[in-house]
Amino acid sequence: MDNIFLLFLLLLPLAAPKGSHSLWVLATYIKGQTPFPEFSYVAMLDDVRIMYYNGETKTLHPRGNTTAEDDVFDSNVLLKISDYMQTSFINKWVIATTNVNKTEGAIALQRLVLCELRDNGDPGQMITRDAVRGSTTDELLYVEKNFTYQGTLNVSAPVLNMHLEFSMRRHEVLYQPFCIKTLKGYLKKRRTQINRKVKPKVRLLQRELSSGFRVSCLASGFYPRHINLTLFRDGQPVSDHEITGGDLLPNADGTYQMRKSLEISAADKHKYTCSVTHLSLDNKLDVTLEFDHGEPFKSVIASVLTVLALMLVIGAAVAIYALKRQHADSVKTGYSTASTSEESMATFRTDVNPRTQSVNL
Ligand SMILES: *[C@@H]1O[C@H](CO)[C@@H](O)[C@H](O)[C@H]1NC(C)=O
Ligand SMILES: *[C@@H]1O[C@H](CO)[C@@H](O)[C@H](O)[C@H]1NC(C)=O
Ligand SMILES: *[C@@H]1O[C@H](CO)[C@@H](O)[C@H](O)[C@H]1NC(C)=O
Ligand SMILES: *[C@@H]1O[C@H](CO)[C@@H](O)[C@H](O)[C@H]1NC(C)=O
Ligand SMILES: *[C@@H]1O[C@H](CO)[C@@H](O)[C@H](O)[C@H]1NC(C)=O
Repeated sequence: MDNIFLLFLLLLPLAAPKGSHSLWVLATYIKGQTPFPEFSYVAMLDDVRIMYYNGETKTLHPRGNTTAEDDVFDSNVLLKISDYMQTSFINKWVIATTNVNKTEGAIALQRLVLCELRDNGDPGQMITRDAVRGSTTDELLYVEKNFTYQGTLNVSAPVLNMHLEFSMRRHEVLYQPFCIKTLKGYLKKRRTQINRKVKPKVRLLQRELSSGFRVSCLASGFYPRHINLTLFRDGQPVSDHEITGGDLLPNADGTYQMRKSLEISAADKHKYTCSVTHLSLDNKLDVTLEFDHGEPFKSVIASVLTVLALMLVIGAAVAIYALKRQHADSVKTGYSTASTSEESMATFRTDVNPRTQSVNL
């Protein structure tokens, strides 16, 4: 599974209303020398990938649990919507790239479409957000039958309003009803997968540094993503400014991991405890570190094991560092496209648009 896709998951809102669910479409329109189809998208239910669409072959590819999901939506309608989306990208490409030097490599347009179902069964917000070369250009928000548009595209008001009218009517009569119906259908089919609770494995690790030790609390393999992980020193929470890490990272199997670290001096004699609360745990889980400061290895076997363990830890640290770097890079540049699979996936930039022009509707 490509890391870029995983990293996208990190940008999903952590603070989604409790009990609500979302259907996401992440579409990419890219022109230039790339191995990707010009148009493609990935659909997700919450943080679970359910479908891939290849705009070149015009084919839908279910993902994950593919048994008995054919009746969730009318594929003819979805194929029609996919064509609409492709057409709107083609139109937008002309506007968005007027002042762009097209010989400078691939240019990507991206769209995030999201519809939300509240826990009471009512539709929540629907968002359609577009970006050009990694920056958000415009966004249409539809909530409680009320549209709000913000955009920075260089088009005249009459042209913009014509497109908006058209797009709003389609949201009302087609996009939102279809999205909500599909979301409900998938929620039924994937209930066990979406509502699964997987317990974290929690370890408190100690690593020797030149100046002392690094104490790390690692929780891994949990689902859903919400977790509270706290480091305690003699029963008191360690203050945030002493802590490094705390980023939520995805594992390839759909679970998540989190690590928090703390540097201490070699003379530190405090007792460290890591405490974790997660939906899968009835009570909080406490793990206490018991370590001897710099005591020599007790046996050759122990030292061999320690070296092996250290190699594993370093390997993991390097992998995590690489992943984080990639994450940082992809956030900085807004979007990046994957190069490791047929699915051209992208991370959506979360920055606020620099220039925003609002249109009253
Ligand atoms: C576009 O970019 C290419 C490569 O950087 C450069 O050679 C060319 O002069 C540029 N064209 C314009 C119109 O700026
Ligand atoms: C529609 O949205 C705008 C902007 O959020 C808000 O000011 C307005 O009150 C809303 N109208 C209705 C009828 O909800
Ligand atoms: C907007 O479009 C007009 C007409 O095509 C053009 O003259 C103007 O330079 C454009 N402005 C920007 C900021 O690109
Ligand atoms: C896959 O779908 C079948 C049929 O709807 C369902 O019984 C099963 O629980 C699903 N498996 C997962 C992992 O969601
Ligand atoms: C984490 O802590 C906050 C504040 O105490 C609490 O509201 C939330 O439910 C906790 N989350 C989990 C997963 O335990």
